[in-house]
Amino acid sequence: MATKPMRVAAIGDLHVQESDVAPYRELFTEISQHADVLALCGDLTNFGKTTEAEILAEDIKSCSIPVIGVLGNHDHECGQPEKVAGILTAAGMKVLDEQAVEIDGVGFAGVKGFMGGYGRGELAPFGEPIAKLFVDEALNEARKLENQLRTLRTERSVAVLHYSPIEGTIEGEPEAIFQYLGSQRLCDPIDRFDHVKAVVHGHAHHGTYEGRTPLGKPVYNVAQFVVRPKFGRPYALIEI
Ligand SMILES: [Fe+2]
Ligand SMILES: [Fe+2]
Repeated sequence: MATKPMRVAAIGDLHVQESDVAPYRELFTEISQHADVLALCGDLTNFGKTTEAEILAEDIKSCSIPVIGVLGNHDHECGQPEKVAGILTAAGMKVLDEQAVEIDGVGFAGVKGFMGGYGRGELAPFGEPIAKLFVDEALNEARKLENQLRTLRTERSVAVLHYSPIEGTIEGEPEAIFQYLGSQRLCDPIDRFDHVKAVVHGHAHHGTYEGRTPLGKPVYNVAQFVVRPKFGRPYALIEI
């Protein structure tokens, strides 16, 4: 018997602000009717304030399908990402960082990721300690992703990120900032595990919707600002 595809709705860069009133309530209700799982790809809040997280948490409660996701750099801005994650977790969202989850036979592994660049533009862990620390952060995020993917025993899985693992989906952004939009180091674990069937990320508001890893796995930039002009709605719908 063929495995039934899972419909994953994915959206990144929600950037909820303190002045917003139920900004995603209607959308999440609509998504619940069209998808089996909702993946949120970071920058859920604008400044990482607890008040912003509480506004989004209320809307998450209107979702009748499982909600998983990762934080973004904006969710770290106030220096309290664990508080933001705690508020969203209490509302029913599974915030991925250290542990993968399995939903109806499909695995989900996720980390925020980090910057560092690609190819010739990749920053090397050389010289000053601060430069090495910067590279370590990207390596750490890649390691956390690898560890989660290693624990999954599912035939299909999705990697959920905020930063981009490839250059293909950030094309459209100024080349001068490519190294701040993601890290190639995040791509290694994705191509290492056969069960990874798709990658979703956000962060590059002016990037490109679809790209491929070196081994040909599909990567989707689901930042709402990329998805809306393409589909007329702010979320992507991906079959796994
Ligand atoms: Fe963003
Ligand atoms: Fe971001």
